[in-house]
Amino acid sequence: MQTAVISFDHFNALSDEQARERILAARAELGRRVVLLCHHYQRADVYRHADLTGDSLKLSRLAAESDAEYIVFCGVHFMAEVADILSRPAQISILPDLAAGCSMADMANLAKVARCWRELAAAVGDPDALFTPVTYINSGADLKAFCGEHGGIVCTSSNAPKILDWAFARREKVLFFPDQHLGRWSGHKMGIPLDEMQVWDPDLENGGLSVEQIRRARILLWKGFCSVHQMFQASHIQRFREEHPDGLVISHPESNFDVCRLSDYVGSTEYIIQTIKAAPANTRWLVGTELNLVSRLAEEVKAEGKSVQFMAPMVCMCSTMGRIDPQHLAWCLENLAEGAVVNRISVPAHEAALAKVALERMLEAS
Ligand code: 13P
Ligand code: SF4
Repeated sequence: MQTAVISFDHFNALSDEQARERILAARAELGRRVVLLCHHYQRADVYRHADLTGDSLKLSRLAAESDAEYIVFCGVHFMAEVADILSRPAQISILPDLAAGCSMADMANLAKVARCWRELAAAVGDPDALFTPVTYINSGADLKAFCGEHGGIVCTSSNAPKILDWAFARREKVLFFPDQHLGRWSGHKMGIPLDEMQVWDPDLENGGLSVEQIRRARILLWKGFCSVHQMFQASHIQRFREEHPDGLVISHPESNFDVCRLSDYVGSTEYIIQTIKAAPANTRWLVGTELNLVSRLAEEVKAEGKSVQFMAPMVCMCSTMGRIDPQHLAWCLENLAEGAVVNRISVPAHEAALAKVALERMLEAS
């Protein structure tokens, strides 16, 4: 019989300091039964408790390798789903606040992708023969399962060009969802001309494209984007370069094409951190990714005389990831210590099996 769940009401009013003490106490009790995985965008008062940190690719590998009974994922929903899919059946994946979703992941869903597949069939013939479906890891488990079922694959921001190579080795075209920007930048890095990449608008018939446009396209880019990274603009880089001609610019590939094109370096969150940490002392950086990561990094490299500046003049945080706060973390850890599981993320078995096929293709190809 499962122990009674302690209600969140008892945690809601805790101060951050009280929540921190309760987290430390629960963790001491749980010991190695629990591992806390944290994405780099997580707020500082949660990130400080991480056992392991990383970008989406690194965290998915860490989840697969972990032997902890409980994987507490301080990230967003799709990351906890991946942890559930890649871990062993007896392991339990937990997301401290179920409202921590990814708005970009929500821009594609199975009904819309299935409709797209049907429309492609009517427009240009059997899509299973013509297209490799590639889903960014920022997507629901059902879309990963779709890719598993249709000879497709998952990618992350750190391996997307390599995954496109894998996809084109199998079929002549790619349907890439849900992030058009990562798809476009990765296609460009492979040498595909921009006019051979067309945006598929899922709210329009045939994606808003003519049959001829679909025929000519090598990549169809789903019309999705990240609400955080869309704030970064080419003008921010131009201004920085005028003020600091020796400065360096690094961006996440969820940023728009012009931002990526004008950047000196483009890569995943882990790549951004490692590149700036490895850079010579006294260098100056403009960084196009989420604010929690940039602020933390700026502090960490300050002593080496490195200056790290956030790209946009306004605050751009991943507000959904920010839903995971010390109060929710204390709540789920204390429940675990008492023998109750809250906020378990459990992907249905048939979906998990197909999604795992697409994820394992990715892990092998990268
Ligand atoms: P990374 O895989 O680079 O950490 O990116 C995940 C993400 O959601 C960026 O917005
Ligand atoms: Fe999703 Fe954007 Fe948040 Fe990344 S930063 S988790 S893409 S909403």
